[in-house]
Amino acid sequence: MGREFVPLFDQWSNNYDLTVTGHNEQYQEVFEDYEKILHSVVSEVHGTILEFGVGTGNLTEKLVAAGHKVYGVEPSRGMIQQIQRRKINFQLFEGDFLDFPPLTEPIDAIVSTYAFHHLTDAEKEQAISIYAKLLQPHGKIVFADTIFQNQDSRRQIEEEVASQGYSGLLTDLRTEYYTTIEVLHPILSKHGFRTNFSRLNKYVWLMSAQKEIG
Ligand SMILES: C[S@@+](CC[C@H](N)C(=O)[O-])C[C@H]1O[C@@H](n2cnc3c(N)ncnc32)[C@H](O)[C@@H]1O
Repeated sequence: MGREFVPLFDQWSNNYDLTVTGHNEQYQEVFEDYEKILHSVVSEVHGTILEFGVGTGNLTEKLVAAGHKVYGVEPSRGMIQQIQRRKINFQLFEGDFLDFPPLTEPIDAIVSTYAFHHLTDAEKEQAISIYAKLLQPHGKIVFADTIFQNQDSRRQIEEEVASQGYSGLLTDLRTEYYTTIEVLHPILSKHGFRTNFSRLNKYVWLMSAQKEIG
């Protein structure tokens, strides 16, 4: 579920890493400080980690290098082919945020970068309720993604993107399911998480949510 954008990633998989390193002008600000953003996720977690939307494996590689055991989930065949070439020591499953194989091991943290916006807000809540049950007591969800503070800041950023003439980025912002902190924060509280949001660049926020109940 939430797989309507997967064909785009099958096409993009060959040159995705050129975009994250700033070779696509429209997306330069979205991926500004990409390496630091990945490190900020790594620095928030420990133990056994479940990662969604692994893509070409840039975050996965850092998590494994930091000594964590990683289970990864990815729906795009193209991306799966890219990550398999890297020979990273982790277990990869074909799946998505909502539909993935049962895990036999306790999970300390669930992470993802640049991917949660592929779910509608209703699907995001469904995912968070699944993760609340799956995580260990005091386990964490740590996601970095494009999020708007509220509808006013969404409008302001869309106007700026339109004035920059970035029509591809504007279409992306208007067609994928980018949400707001105003929407996400109450959903996380309802499912027992204490959450901090911190801004990492013009578009990307770090969402660090810790489970308060057992
Ligand atoms: C923009 S890429 C991000 C890749 C990587 N996490 C990174 O930070 O570079 C988005 C990834 O999410 C995956 N994706 C798309 N829909 C998804 C879904 N419903 N569940 C999980 N992953 C999804 C895509 O196939 C792609 O690999």
